[in-house]
Amino acid sequence: MILCHKGLFTLHTNHTTYQMKADAHGVLLHTYYGPRVEGCDLSYTIRYVDRGFSPVPEEAGEDRTFSLDVLPQEYSGCGTGDFRLPSLDLELPNGSRGADLRFKSFRVERGKYALEGLPAFRGEEDETLTVVLEDAAAGVEVELLYGVLEDYDLITRAVRVINRGTSAVKIRQAASLCLDFQRGNLDLITFDGKHVLERCPNRGPLLPGVRSADSVRGGSSHQHNPFVILCDHSAGEDHGLCFAACLLYSGNFQAAAERSQFETVRLTLGIHPWNFCWTLGPGEAFTTPEAALCCSGQGFTPLTHRLHRCFRERLLRDPWGERPVLINNWESTEFSFDAERLVAIAKSAAPMGVGLFVMDDGWFGARDSDRAGLGDWTVNRDKLPGGLEALVPRIKALGMDFGLWVEPEMVNEDSELYRAHPDWVLQAPGRMVRSRQQLVLDFTRRDVRDHIYGALKAVLSSAEISYVKWDVNRSLAAVWSAALPPERQGEVFHRYILGVYDMLERMRRDFPHLLIEGCSGGGGRFDAGMLYYTPQIWCSDNTDAIDRLRIQYGTSFCYPVCTMGAHVSAIPNAQTGRSVSMETRGVVAMHGTFGYEMDPSRITPEEREVIRRQIAFFKKHQALIHQGDYYRLSDPFQNGPYTAWEQVSPDKREALVFVVSGPAQGGPPLLNLRLKGLEPSFRYQVDGQGDYPGAALMEAGWPLPMPWGDFQSWQFYLSAL
Ligand code: DGJ
Repeated sequence: MILCHKGLFTLHTNHTTYQMKADAHGVLLHTYYGPRVEGCDLSYTIRYVDRGFSPVPEEAGEDRTFSLDVLPQEYSGCGTGDFRLPSLDLELPNGSRGADLRFKSFRVERGKYALEGLPAFRGEEDETLTVVLEDAAAGVEVELLYGVLEDYDLITRAVRVINRGTSAVKIRQAASLCLDFQRGNLDLITFDGKHVLERCPNRGPLLPGVRSADSVRGGSSHQHNPFVILCDHSAGEDHGLCFAACLLYSGNFQAAAERSQFETVRLTLGIHPWNFCWTLGPGEAFTTPEAALCCSGQGFTPLTHRLHRCFRERLLRDPWGERPVLINNWESTEFSFDAERLVAIAKSAAPMGVGLFVMDDGWFGARDSDRAGLGDWTVNRDKLPGGLEALVPRIKALGMDFGLWVEPEMVNEDSELYRAHPDWVLQAPGRMVRSRQQLVLDFTRRDVRDHIYGALKAVLSSAEISYVKWDVNRSLAAVWSAALPPERQGEVFHRYILGVYDMLERMRRDFPHLLIEGCSGGGGRFDAGMLYYTPQIWCSDNTDAIDRLRIQYGTSFCYPVCTMGAHVSAIPNAQTGRSVSMETRGVVAMHGTFGYEMDPSRITPEEREVIRRQIAFFKKHQALIHQGDYYRLSDPFQNGPYTAWEQVSPDKREALVFVVSGPAQGGPPLLNLRLKGLEPSFRYQVDGQGDYPGAALMEAGWPLPMPWGDFQSWQFYLSAL
């Protein structure tokens, strides 16, 4: 619900309230974000005091208690006397820098706004508030867009910068959101890591100064995620005030939190200002990516439930509903395969219940290693005589769908494409930075995108292809586009991501039944922006079940289980050399989209039987696993005796509990695992081992079997009587 009264704007969701107010000088102040508060102008919480060295804007005259340096801003400018993190930074034709925004007007519209060419949550039944600010000296208007997804407790934001003047201005920075808190005692949680260990939570109290999580790698990155949480120092899964902010964007980003001199906090989130400079001609508009905010007064679990539900119902565009259990040949064959080897893998997988065969890297051009072939999207007839027209029907005849790996954004120098168009790469003259022996195509260019898309479309049209894995295996460096003049090179990173989104949207439009899985060397571009186009993303190139416990735990704070690509792979694991049982590998991979990455003809009959049972179990419970409310029952980073998680159906009549024990220890403790989210008064049948009240299972717990050996696993199914 959006309420507007005399410059006071109040946004209510079911459990939260967000409020801002245009003050006497037209400065849009942020008055509140938190648990729902009704019937109140919360600007009474803002104090005006004279602070030394805090400048006073001209219109406040001699009133030294009015300074933007100390007031909570809704969308901060710079050069105004507010020295904290800027949201908007403009460079005017005279070379001056700054942005000084004042309230101009507002409008409320039915339906949540959409953003052309950018990912955004959907909400036809919701409302949009647009608050228009202006910087009179710059001749620039700034529209702050707010989408209120009431039932999900989600507030979305985006910003449109419009040049109303007669000369071009440069946007040096335009954040998607700014959120000021009138308190400094907050923890920041970021989700960080590296290739093969992504999205591990890092939590710490904000100290004076700025702490940020960001990427300047061209993609959202393995190293940091465009999702952060701010919370009470004492907040936990079930208690405490916490705020989540995520950016629907897959390129360079910056999430920055500043604890100021006066114990306030400002969070900004948006496109990274490094190497960003957008020239805005007269009459032109620039739209930032969308950011989303969620708040919970009862800890991280409700925060996660709200985000998961909103992602599933308002962000993902999932053509299949139920995701297929897939088998992918990458870890078992890498580049060395032919049609017979692939069909042999598919033949051994089909009787176990696998529904989708994915042919990974190596099927096109001269792609026998990672040194060649990228850019040449035609079938390698030495490996696949007869092409996809011959291979796909053989897979379909086994009762499986067929999927294909692609890496459209990249090119090898050893390719027909590069030989024909060496100028199609993003490469600063005189500089050459290779990574995995590949270069990056200039997706800012329509002609480059048209060429690649045309080739992909021909492949996708040549056979019955149901799934595409869209990979990207390097970061961007020495970036420069031959298609843009020097003064527009600061637009390249953003235009590149817009080009990626354009390609994905075209593919979705032309092949509406295609399931596209995102991937970037595993989880290097696992973000809400990509999820708008690719409803599942390969979580990590690390398929070691024990490392995956941590990666998937961290990922779960924001992203739903049905988005996390997770597979059982062969042992010893290719990333860690560790061996864990097939049972445990299956239990962990079920905490995701579920599939296999091995050659089933090379495992024992007993293991094949385990896989058959795993797939049957997953298929039976897929709705609960993917759509249920997700509970983290323990933190794998605490090195406790076990890692456990649980899914509960919305009506609370069913639940699944998964447990993986840690390394073996002598005299292990006997543990009762306290469950969550059940209905206290229901009696639950626990895997045929008796029935117990929900209250007992949540308060007294469920006795776990005594582990014997490293990394044992158990799964329990509960159903209400
Ligand atoms: C990186 C991906 O994450 C892997 O799963 C695999 O597809 C390789 N690329 C193929 O080159």
